[in-house]
Amino acid sequence: GITKHYKFNIKLQKVTRLCHTRKIVSVNGKFPGPRIVVREGDRLLIDVRNNVQNNISLHWHGIRQFRNGWADGVAYVTQCPIQKGQSYVYNFTIDGQRGTLWWHAHISWLRATVYGPIIILPKRGVPYPFAKPYKEVTIIFGAWYNTDPEAIIRETLQSGGGPNVSDAYTINGLPGPLYNCSAKDTFKLKVKPGKTYLLRLINAVLNEHLFFSIANHTLTIVEVDAVYAKPFETETLLIEPGQTTNVLLETKPYSPEAKFYMSARPYQTGFGTFDNSTVAGILEYEKLHVTSSHSSDPKLPIFEPVLPPIHDTNFAANFTNKIHSLASDRYPANVPQKVDKRFFFTVGFGLSPCQYSNKTCKGTFGEKFTGVVNNVSFTLPKTAMLQAHYFGKSKGVYTTDFPTHPEFPFNYTGDPPVTNHMMVRHGTKTVVVPFNTSVELIMQDTNTLGSENHPLHLHGYDVFVVGQGFGNFDPKKDPAKFNLVDPVERNTVGIPSGGWVAIRFVADNPGAWLMHCHIETHMSWGMMMAWIVLDGKHPHQKLLPPPSDLPTC
Ligand code: C2O
Ligand code: CU
Repeated sequence: GITKHYKFNIKLQKVTRLCHTRKIVSVNGKFPGPRIVVREGDRLLIDVRNNVQNNISLHWHGIRQFRNGWADGVAYVTQCPIQKGQSYVYNFTIDGQRGTLWWHAHISWLRATVYGPIIILPKRGVPYPFAKPYKEVTIIFGAWYNTDPEAIIRETLQSGGGPNVSDAYTINGLPGPLYNCSAKDTFKLKVKPGKTYLLRLINAVLNEHLFFSIANHTLTIVEVDAVYAKPFETETLLIEPGQTTNVLLETKPYSPEAKFYMSARPYQTGFGTFDNSTVAGILEYEKLHVTSSHSSDPKLPIFEPVLPPIHDTNFAANFTNKIHSLASDRYPANVPQKVDKRFFFTVGFGLSPCQYSNKTCKGTFGEKFTGVVNNVSFTLPKTAMLQAHYFGKSKGVYTTDFPTHPEFPFNYTGDPPVTNHMMVRHGTKTVVVPFNTSVELIMQDTNTLGSENHPLHLHGYDVFVVGQGFGNFDPKKDPAKFNLVDPVERNTVGIPSGGWVAIRFVADNPGAWLMHCHIETHMSWGMMMAWIVLDGKHPHQKLLPPPSDLPTC
C-alpha cells in the first residue's frame, strides 16, 4: 500500500439551504465533507487542525483500527478532544477491509455537519465479486438544520424528548425538490441506458433510519458496512444511522430525458413520528446526442417510488433477514462456532431520578430521560479511557463492573414493571474481556417507555449477526435457529423494535471500544457502554503505544 495525506481544516462555513443561511462547522469549508478514497492496505495520515471554538474529534466509522484505538477518534474514550488551535494526525492503515465507510465528528452533535464518505477500493488488480460497474456514485444521506443542531439537542434533552427534528433530509447535502425553496438544490444523477452503476449509500442522518428507493428500478444489494453480501434484489432498502450499503443499479432502455426520483424518507418506531418527509434526487437518462443546448422539457413527468409506511417494522425485519455475507472462498465468513463468554444486554430508556424524586437531573444538560443498557446510563469521563487503560490509571476514570446480564430480569417486551424505568444507574462502566475471547451478545429491546429500533454500533469490530426475532429472546429455543454459516457481518446492527438480535465476534482487537446506539439523541441520553479488550501475550497482540501528538484534556 501507499501512504495518503489529507489535510482537514475544521472551520466555520456559511451554507444556505431551504432559504436559510447558517454558519456551520465544516471540514475545509465543504458540506458534506471531503471524500477519502484509498485502497485496501493503504496508510492514511489525516492532519486535523481545529480552527473553531468547539472541541472536536473525528471518527473513521467502521475502520477496524487494529491495536490502534488512538486513531478511533471518540472524544473521551480513545482521545481527548482537539481544542481550538490544536491539531492531531490520525494515522492508520486499512487492513483487510474494502468497501464503503464514512467519517464523522464524534463529540457532541457536531456530526450533524461534519461528515463525509470513505471509499476503500480493493487492492490493485483484485476485482469486485460482482460485475464491474460502469460508474460508481456516492450517496450520503444527511439532515439539514435551519438552526444550530447543538442548541436543538440541548432543548430536546432538557424538555424530555420532544421532536428533535431536522428541517430536511439531504442527499450529498441537497434537500431536493420536495422541500420548499430547494429545487435548485437537487442531487442529479445522469445515466446511460443499459449500464451498471454502483451506488455507495451512507446514512449519516443524526436520528433517523431511512427507506430508499428509485422509481421503476431495482437495486441489487452487494455489500453492507464494507463487507460483501450475497447479492439480492430489492425495490426498497432500509439503511439505519451509521450503516452503509452498496447496491448495483442496472439502467433500463428508457428514452433520453426520462426522469425518476430517488427518494428516502424515515422509518420510525419510537416516541411518535418526526416525519419531516422526503428527500429526492433525480435519476435522469442522458440525451443520446447532444446536438442542441436546449434544457430538458420541464413538463416531462418524474416518476415517484412508493416507499413503505413510516412504521413498517415488518418490512424492516424482512429486509434485514435477507442480508447474508458472501461467505465465498475468497471472502469467507469466519463465524465463531464456539462461545467463550455470553452476554445479555437490554437496551431501552429510563427516567432520570429527578423525575420521581427531588434529586437534581444528573446528565450534562439536565436531561429527563436516560438511554440505558442493562439499566446503566453511560457517562463520558473527563479524560480519555484508552490512555487511562494503557497507563494503568483507570481509577476515577472508569469502572469494570458493567453488568453482563440484566440484574432484575422482567418481561422486556411485555408489560414492563412500573418501577423498571426508575432503576437507572449512571456511570462509566465497562466490560473487560481477555484477548481473543469469543463473545456472544444478545441485545434485547425493552418497551420500558416505548420500544424502538436501535442501531447499535461497536467500535473497532465487525460482528456477525447470527439471529434476530420479535418478542423476548428465548435462550432455550432461539439459539438452535442461529445462522452460523453466512450471517451478515457489520459494524452497526439494528435491534428490532420490540425484539432482539444476537451477535458474535472474537475480541481480537485490544483497546477501549465504545458501543452505542447510533441515534444521536439516544446516545446523548447515555445509551452507550464500553468494552476493554486486554492485550494478548505476543507483541503483535498488544495495543500500540500512543502517538506523541495525542491531545491532552
Ligand atoms: Cu459512527 Cu461511535 O460512531
Ligand atoms: Cu437507540
